[in-house]
Amino acid sequence: MTTSTPHKTRSTRDTFNTRFVFLMAAIGSAVGLGNIWRFPYVAYENGGGAFLIPYMVALLTAGIPILWFDLAIGHRFRGSAPLAFRRISSRWEGIGWFKVGVNFFIAIYYAAIIAWAALYTIKSLQQTWGEDPSTYFIVDFLQADAEATYSGHVVPSILGVMILVWVVCIATLATSINKGIGKLTSIFLPVLAVMFIILVIRAFFLDGAAEGLNAFFTPDWSVLSNPSVWIAAYGQIFFSLSIGFGIMITYASYLKPRTNLTNTGLVTAFANSSFEVLAGIGVFATLGYMAAQQGVSVDEVAESGIGLAFIAFPTIINLMPLGWLFGVLFFGSLFLAGVTSLISIMEVVVSAVADKFNISRRVSAISVGSAMGVLSCFLFATSSGLVTLDIMDKFTNNLGIVFGSICALVVVGWITGRRREIQQHLNAVSQFKVGGFWQFLTFVATPLLLVYFLVNEIITIVREGYEGYSSTQIGLFGWAVLGVILLVSFVMPLVDFRGNKYLDGIETSDYGVPVGGRPAGTPNPLAAGNAAAPSTDDK
Ligand code: ALA
Repeated sequence: MTTSTPHKTRSTRDTFNTRFVFLMAAIGSAVGLGNIWRFPYVAYENGGGAFLIPYMVALLTAGIPILWFDLAIGHRFRGSAPLAFRRISSRWEGIGWFKVGVNFFIAIYYAAIIAWAALYTIKSLQQTWGEDPSTYFIVDFLQADAEATYSGHVVPSILGVMILVWVVCIATLATSINKGIGKLTSIFLPVLAVMFIILVIRAFFLDGAAEGLNAFFTPDWSVLSNPSVWIAAYGQIFFSLSIGFGIMITYASYLKPRTNLTNTGLVTAFANSSFEVLAGIGVFATLGYMAAQQGVSVDEVAESGIGLAFIAFPTIINLMPLGWLFGVLFFGSLFLAGVTSLISIMEVVVSAVADKFNISRRVSAISVGSAMGVLSCFLFATSSGLVTLDIMDKFTNNLGIVFGSICALVVVGWITGRRREIQQHLNAVSQFKVGGFWQFLTFVATPLLLVYFLVNEIITIVREGYEGYSSTQIGLFGWAVLGVILLVSFVMPLVDFRGNKYLDGIETSDYGVPVGGRPAGTPNPLAAGNAAAPSTDDK
């Protein structure tokens, strides 16, 4: 064991020019496919208006506290997830790599959905899906083969657009933080907001919109005693706010020293939830219209996930005057929201590799991004892509993110005992202070809930399988994917940070409470009552 070496180098880490640019990036990451197609249906399926109660509870008790935790880790330890965890303790770098692995697999399927959205934006102009959008989507568009584990049958149109999506994202990440992520999100997010608001206003004035909104908001209070509704609310918040992914850790590592972290977190969280509720209103007003046109009730037309966007919406667009415009707004929004989230998911991997091997972000983005792109096209531009996507989504989200979050909270809070240090860091730079209650929510309540959630999920999957897929499909795209991620998190810490990068410049006092060596004569602000003294920890 060595104590922290005196090293006065300042970090040369790129920073976001302004807090506004950071907010665009963070909100752009949060607002994604999860808001537009996932939230409306999850809410509807879990009690409609009553779901807003567990949703708000999850936002306030886990969403915001964990977002602050992620922001504090990234800002204080100024690194990608593995570098930040390496600086917390050399024993736990693997947690960072686990998060990197999860993002790697989420990115490769997320890109496919973005490509579908791009193609459907164009198809909206002429409604080339014809009279039967359901058959068109499955048979003609995806050429889906549910039986094959890997069909090898490439769908050229999807492949072409996926390549474009990867090129745009790699080019964005290959340049500096401000010119790349900053600029792209500062353009895409306002455009997305305007398009989506027009869409929701249009939906609001459709015949039958009121019935749709009634169905969405009519509360079924009995659901509040059902644990699965609460699980759904917490799951939605984690996915939608991009917390527990390592995304917010990575983005916060590019924040300037004196950044008000708690306020920034609050703005991000409320912007994301506002967008989510707006999406619920827009989608259900539209479904109300569809139900009215077809003379059926709203629950007969409310589809979930992929079916909602790519089957229900084309059906509605067919029925609507100026449907093409509505289609361009809807699928265009899905595309823009998806791209700003995808670059944040990729950034977790790109930044980790750049930190570990001490290479530029350009080299990392091009090499890592290309590898991800090739695998993504290989798996998801084929006729077996839909099944692979569904299984990978389930396992990376419901098991991967949850497991990675539990490990991070337990290690930081209990094993290395740095609860108070993180709290002091947040308070040193922020206006809105956090206290013991935040610690309780972050390090006690949320991990316990997540453990319950994880055990429940594992038991259900082992007992019942998933969506009737074969054990080979689930084994390969579910369990084996998690196995690979685990392997990476054990192997990567064995490789040294090239150039001992983990030691570089994190001890300046500009970033909240100093880490490790303090400027001479400065009293140790953590000395009193802190269980574990902070250090760059070379244990
Ligand atoms: N937060 C992103 C989404 O909602 C990942 O899709």
